Amino acid sequence: MSEQAQFKRAAAAAALDFVRPGMRLGLGTGSTAEAFLELLSVRIADGLDVVSAATSERTASRARSLGIQVVELDDLAPLDLTIDGADEADSALNLIKGGGGALLREKIVAASSRQMIVIADASKLVDCLGAFALPVEVVSFGARTTLDRLERALTTLGYKDVAVTPRSGADGLFRTDSGNLVFDCALKLIHDAPALARALSQVPGVVDHGLFIGLASHLIVAGSAGIKILERATA
Ligand code: A5P
Repeated sequence: MSEQAQFKRAAAAAALDFVRPGMRLGLGTGSTAEAFLELLSVRIADGLDVVSAATSERTASRARSLGIQVVELDDLAPLDLTIDGADEADSALNLIKGGGGALLREKIVAASSRQMIVIADASKLVDCLGAFALPVEVVSFGARTTLDRLERALTTLGYKDVAVTPRSGADGLFRTDSGNLVFDCALKLIHDAPALARALSQVPGVVDHGLFIGLASHLIVAGSAGIKILERATA
């Protein structure tokens, strides 16, 4: 196992301390979230009673194969706790998510949860978001016109010459679980994540974007210095 994979697993293991019997859990998407699934399944085999809703078809299928009960979000919400990974996180617990293409369901599940805990290896904790290209989910109808509006909105906010790239999949364009497309926006440095999040939400054709603002309550980061748990400051 690579060092990074070990850190992901260590963060996932630390998140298990937040899980209580009888909880309704939201299950994230990505390799760190999958490490959590594996560890959770061991606890379930030992008698822990939890039920879950998944943020992607991939996670639902992996969870079921590990013996974790997965039901529809609408049959379970509100959730007690969602555990998910991130592509980037800052110290205010603003996140970039969607590298795995699951941002829409991840945001719906997180927003349906009393608490969201993010698990990550230390490389994900950054001073300023934006080095990871921001995923934006768009409907396929009129997608080229949405791309134009998106570029104009970014320019208006001061993000000049941003490469906005439709994500490719195995057979042409990548499709999310909801059948939408993803545009990856290479912003490099995001100056004001909440302002950008608000502006992107107003672009017709944009379903949602990978900026998660005010959703995560805790960030568990594992690195060579050990485990660090950051808590979001509330006003
Ligand atoms: C999935 O859409 C993303 O939001 C993931 O949470 C993100 O890509 C993290 O992935 P890893 O845990 O594999 O780094």
